[in-house]
Amino acid sequence: MEKPILEVDNLRIRYGGASAEAVRGVSFTLGRERLGIVGESGSGKSTVGRALLRLLPGATITADKLRFGELDLLTLSEKEMLKVRGRRMSMILQDPKFSLNPIRRVGDQVAETYLRHFRCSKAEARDKALAMLEAVKIRDPERVYDQYPHEISGGMGQRVMIAMMLLADPDLVIADEPTSALDVTVRLQVLNILDGLVRDRGIGLIMISHDLNLVRNFCDRVLIMYAGRVVETLAARDLDRAEHPYTRGLLAAQPRIGGGRAPLAVLDRQLEWLEEKA
Ligand SMILES: Nc1ncnc2c1ncn2[C@@H]1O[C@H](COP(=O)(O)OP(=O)(O)OP(=O)(O)O)[C@@H](O)[C@H]1O
Ligand SMILES: [Mg+2]
Repeated sequence: MEKPILEVDNLRIRYGGASAEAVRGVSFTLGRERLGIVGESGSGKSTVGRALLRLLPGATITADKLRFGELDLLTLSEKEMLKVRGRRMSMILQDPKFSLNPIRRVGDQVAETYLRHFRCSKAEARDKALAMLEAVKIRDPERVYDQYPHEISGGMGQRVMIAMMLLADPDLVIADEPTSALDVTVRLQVLNILDGLVRDRGIGLIMISHDLNLVRNFCDRVLIMYAGRVVETLAARDLDRAEHPYTRGLLAAQPRIGGGRAPLAVLDRQLEWLEEKA
């Protein structure tokens, strides 16, 4: 079997001052595939994503294994981590409005990624950024390059973010609800771009989402998280055949067009879900 890009074993995360762990023994491996992480709000999805980039100041991260390629993410110094973040591993966040710097032209923000990680001239970085803006289907990259974040639409902002995250050609992209701020048509475009990247560049993609339909259609595999644990791992196409009562509950709580007017099911949580091993 191909060597995994990421190996996570018994990952535990406690935020400073918190009495309980936000992530309680998560294990999974990731190859060159699209892995979905779903689960309700507060189940620890984003915390897992941020821990991989070690973007959790003040939190305690422990694991039996946290390997990214040949690197041990648990022992890497902060200086070495700076070379990993944005270069070999990057994260696409939910809302471009909060992630782009409002007082700098968007193109310069994209080019900066390249300048940071590679020795090159400003002109070269600009060319790379323009090519990447084009690759994420921005029609007039020269014009968009010189615009400020408030001058572009949300969908375009999200594509700019993706361009920024991909410019350095990472092996792993973590997308945390990358399309939840977008309308349906733009959402499809963005997903297509991400899909193309997995296929053409062979990256590993972690897609964090609330949306079961999205991960069912888009991902290869899905982890279902509940209260800081993975309760079930499934091939995305088998999602409807999930066995864990929590996953079944999430599926039953989804509204369906033409599904009748009966009230939606409410999750019936059980204490033993907190303890059982996935
Ligand atoms: N910076 C923080 N400091 C303290 N606790 C935090 C912090 N961020 C998250 N938490 C707690 O960690 C737990 C997991 O949160 P996390 O944001 O990972 O959930 P999530 O699954 O991403 O939820 P959502 O779907 O709402 O984004 C929650 O109980 C949350 O309150
Ligand atoms: Mg989250």
